Amino acid sequence: MNQNYNSPSPRRVNERLRRRRRRTAAIVIFLLAAVLVALLAVYVGLLIRNRPDNPNGDSQTTPAPTVTEGAPADTTAPDDTTAAPETTAAPETTAAPVITYTTINMTRDAITQGDLVLVNASFPYTFPANEKHLTTIYGNKSRGYQIGSAQDKLDTDALAAWNKAADAFLAETGDGSLLLTNNGGYRSREAQETLYQKRVASVGEAEAAKYVALPGNSEHHTGLAFDLAVYRDGKTYTLGSDELYNWIPQNLPRYGFVLRYPADKVNITGISYEEWHFRYVGIPHAVYMTENNLCLEEYLNTLRAYQADGQHLSVTSDGVEYEIWYVPVAEGDVTPIAVPNGVTYSISGNNMDGFVVTLSRPAADAQQ
Ligand code: DAL
Ligand code: ZN
Repeated sequence: MNQNYNSPSPRRVNERLRRRRRRTAAIVIFLLAAVLVALLAVYVGLLIRNRPDNPNGDSQTTPAPTVTEGAPADTTAPDDTTAAPETTAAPETTAAPVITYTTINMTRDAITQGDLVLVNASFPYTFPANEKHLTTIYGNKSRGYQIGSAQDKLDTDALAAWNKAADAFLAETGDGSLLLTNNGGYRSREAQETLYQKRVASVGEAEAAKYVALPGNSEHHTGLAFDLAVYRDGKTYTLGSDELYNWIPQNLPRYGFVLRYPADKVNITGISYEEWHFRYVGIPHAVYMTENNLCLEEYLNTLRAYQADGQHLSVTSDGVEYEIWYVPVAEGDVTPIAVPNGVTYSISGNNMDGFVVTLSRPAADAQQ
């Protein structure tokens, strides 16, 4: 059956096709334009979000510039804490404090310097290129003690701590007869050599080695150690001559000093009991070592369990809280150590294989 319909002319068909193509092209252009506008909006949004002053941005706080000092002094870094973002939360909500860090780059040779260097028969002392850290005791001493030589020197920090301790002893006991012995502070390699040879000539090598370290292996080279006696009425006595002087080993840790060669550690230190020889290590270390009956060799080994990414050792003394951890020396020339800004810190080498970081804060702050 034939259907009767009007067949369009070729001209009208072409016209319809052209119109359809134009419509399709318009839709495609519209869609492309919409996609472009959407992409542009996302891009602008990201730019605004990452602006450094955007309080709602989530970019990391940039650490302060790297410090590259080899042997750092105690430093208080500036507080870089950024303002907390505005919030619509209830007024009692407290924003968590933002802790920022400064990276201290310690050079490999810095492990030989600092208050915690271990110097014994296995680990010789590396003499520093200059001796600026040493201070002549005469002219810089406190009233609390006498000296055997006007030439003797001590590490500057150790001398300041010892001056305080000796004055406390004088104030508490009224006794002014403590003596820092002749050649009892810093010793050059040559001074130690002379002492050692004299002792060998007198008692033989084996006996000499019990009390006198080999030249190069004495912690007197550090300027952090000194020998004490008592000088009264023209005569010299040992500390053990009167129980009054028990004050010294009992109280010196609060000032940063330890009795370095105790009777029960001879098999570890390799040196016989020396009631006269004290060593500056810094307050928290001296307090912890004494309370836990650890000699320096044992203490530095104990610290290996406290590393940057784990638990830190906490010590409180006289209202100050200390946080301590060990950092093994890195493979390369530089060991980066991150310390929080706004906190007093010190870093010492252990003269073996790493560094010890010590932070200090007022104890009240630390509990907040
Ligand atoms: N009396 C100590 C061990 C020294 O000579 O260094
Ligand atoms: Zn000594």
